[in-house]
Amino acid sequence: MRVAMIGTGYVGLVSGACFADFGHVVTCVDKDASKIDRLHQNIMPIYEPGLDDLVEKNVKEERLFFTTDAKEAIADADAVFIAVGTPSRRGDGHADLSYVYAAAEEIAELMTGFTVVVTKSTVPVGTGDEVEEIIRKKRPDADFAVVSNPEFLREGAAIKDFKIPDRVVVGTEDERAKEIMEELYRPLFLNQTPIVFTARRTSELIKYAANAFLAVKITFINEMADLCEAVGANVQEVSRGIGLDGRIGKKFLNAGPGYGGSCFPKDTLALTKTANDHNSPVRIVDTVVEVNASRKKAMAGKIIKAMGGDVSGKTIGVLGLAFKQNTDDMRDAPSLDIIPALVEAGAKIKAYDPEAMEEAKHLLDGIDYAENAYGAVDGADAMVILTEWDQFRALDLERIKASLNGDVVVDLRNIYSPDDMAKRGFTYTSIGRPV
Ligand code: UDX
Repeated sequence: MRVAMIGTGYVGLVSGACFADFGHVVTCVDKDASKIDRLHQNIMPIYEPGLDDLVEKNVKEERLFFTTDAKEAIADADAVFIAVGTPSRRGDGHADLSYVYAAAEEIAELMTGFTVVVTKSTVPVGTGDEVEEIIRKKRPDADFAVVSNPEFLREGAAIKDFKIPDRVVVGTEDERAKEIMEELYRPLFLNQTPIVFTARRTSELIKYAANAFLAVKITFINEMADLCEAVGANVQEVSRGIGLDGRIGKKFLNAGPGYGGSCFPKDTLALTKTANDHNSPVRIVDTVVEVNASRKKAMAGKIIKAMGGDVSGKTIGVLGLAFKQNTDDMRDAPSLDIIPALVEAGAKIKAYDPEAMEEAKHLLDGIDYAENAYGAVDGADAMVILTEWDQFRALDLERIKASLNGDVVVDLRNIYSPDDMAKRGFTYTSIGRPV
């Protein structure tokens, strides 16, 4: 199959590289010439484990191409994927669909023969109808079908999530489109991955419902963590105790500083907007959006309290800035709420993140950076863990103890054991666990 991927952001690039690795011929198109230039030199625009090798291999084997010129890519394609951004619209939180609609216009102009237009971007219910109308209006003669095929890729594990997914969701009622989608995902079909064929609107909603449900799950355990702190219980054991119930499931029950990233904050908000527009509010999601936002803000207070109530003039060594491990993504990261609040309270920040510091430099003012975890903590009055990078899980705690000015450790990812930290002489604060 020949595939055109419009947009070489996170989703487009990972999906394009993985489809090529399945054996399809994929051309990734982006308007950003410098991005395409860098991709030609195998420089990835994002940090994603394994992606550079996958791209390099498929480029070498001539199944993966990059271009700024959509013409040939779209004209030759059996399937054109729209994988452009749908950021939150400034002011109202609705998904901004301008890039999706611009892609639809371009596809309409350039497609030839029967073409399946696949929306991979996360789009509100009804966007497929709109895309179809845009194309139909521009090219009344065109032979095409618009399909919804949402992605469920986690940053940091995206290649595995694409190649070994729990399921693939395809929204279309067009038989020819269904056949092409089956052919595209045949390698997964053979592995018995469930492929959920459904109507387009249902497929669009599945994506939002999945992300919202996971956000609810995380927020639920975060509030349980607060309750644990209040009543002297341990949230990790609560997670295990409830997660072993197959109806609940163990995953996404790690309490932390609140969810962030490129999807959950924007998708939960967009879902609440769609729901309100249709007079069918999803109050549980409204609440989750609110609780999560205030949780991220409250975390600075937790750190200040752990440091005796006043951080003015004190230095805090911060480990981790990205919204989670294995990514350089800073979008809606808890660090963006926590660090400015600590700075505002008079603290000096020395931070280290294995991948996200370049990105952080554009977003965080007035803080210093270290070359590694030990550098961040050296001479600091407290060590604060904001992101659960593997390399922070087995730090040389003797060394940390010796280089810290004092003994305060705040671990917002629960990667150390309270008992062990107490035995080692740290004043240790974590999320929802008694010392
Ligand atoms: C998410 C979805 O998992 C993916 O299917 C979707 O397509 C895109 O959004 P991603 O944003 O990459 O992926 O990260 P994910 O691993 O889901 O984590 C999201 C946020 O939730 C992070 O801030 C993470 O730290 C937080 N989280 C996750 C928790 O606080 N606790 C958990 O148990 C799991």
